[in-house]
Amino acid sequence: MTEKQNCILRIDNLIKIFDDAETEDTILKGLNLTVQRGEFMCILGPSGCGKTTFLRCIAGFEEFDGQIYVDGHKCSVPGTDRIMVFQDFNQLFPWKTVEQNIQYPLKLQGLRDKDELRRISEESLIKVKLQGYERYYPHQLSGGMKQRVAIAKALALKPALILMDEPFAALDAMTRSELQEEVLRISEQEGSTVIFVTHNIEEAITLGTRILVFQKGGQVVFDEKNPIKRPVTPLAENYGAIWEKLHRALHSEDGG
Ligand SMILES: Nc1ncnc2c1ncn2[C@@H]1O[C@H](COP(=O)(O)OP(=O)(O)OP(=O)(O)O)[C@@H](O)[C@H]1O
Ligand SMILES: [Mg+2]
Repeated sequence: MTEKQNCILRIDNLIKIFDDAETEDTILKGLNLTVQRGEFMCILGPSGCGKTTFLRCIAGFEEFDGQIYVDGHKCSVPGTDRIMVFQDFNQLFPWKTVEQNIQYPLKLQGLRDKDELRRISEESLIKVKLQGYERYYPHQLSGGMKQRVAIAKALALKPALILMDEPFAALDAMTRSELQEEVLRISEQEGSTVIFVTHNIEEAITLGTRILVFQKGGQVVFDEKNPIKRPVTPLAENYGAIWEKLHRALHSEDGG
């Protein structure tokens, strides 16, 4: 496959301006980026630098200037080829069961066959190790379980791109590391392309095949392949060196 065929996301000169009646804020100042199929791209960056805005533009939730192409198709509105998973535990419909939550977007896509819907939701729940919880309501689940359902819901749609905005930030350390392992396993098995925003350098090194650091204005001040092969442990050669580099890029306005 050529480099061009392998490119799943291309972003040309992405500009995002929030202009209210009183203020005009340019959040992304002309961002250019390509992402290859199967990459797990982690984005680090200080609070307010535009990471969520960047994902929201790709997801089609924001108007923007510039071009975004997914699989060669220009996109500006939401589509099931790009699914976003949020930090918030309340991204499920509280009045729907786990199974109904997963099936809902599939029904919106026009899938009506009950057996097929059940098969897909069961398969997705197995992937996130939640089989047996089909009939539970979100309020009966822990935060980590809700995030697993949100991931299952995304997987059920077989999106070209999974966009994750600090999905594990509100979880305790143990659940977080468990879910990191799950997401790694699933993304490797499915060959998914993931863009994953995190504040946590260790998380970026553990998950990313490629790591970016954003600074204000959505400026990419660091963009390198992760030199450490999976499974990543802090004892890996180069771990300290890449951690240092990321820490410096993250804490200096010009990327150090
Ligand atoms: N709807 C909006 N209207 C006006 N300004 C907005 C809007 N959404 C975001 N912004 C501004 O855009 C900037 C970037 O916000 P964004 O949420 O993308 O940052 P972030 O990098 O995700 O930060 P964090 O790490 O804290 O999540 C902020 O200055 C924020 O105030
Ligand atoms: Mg954010």
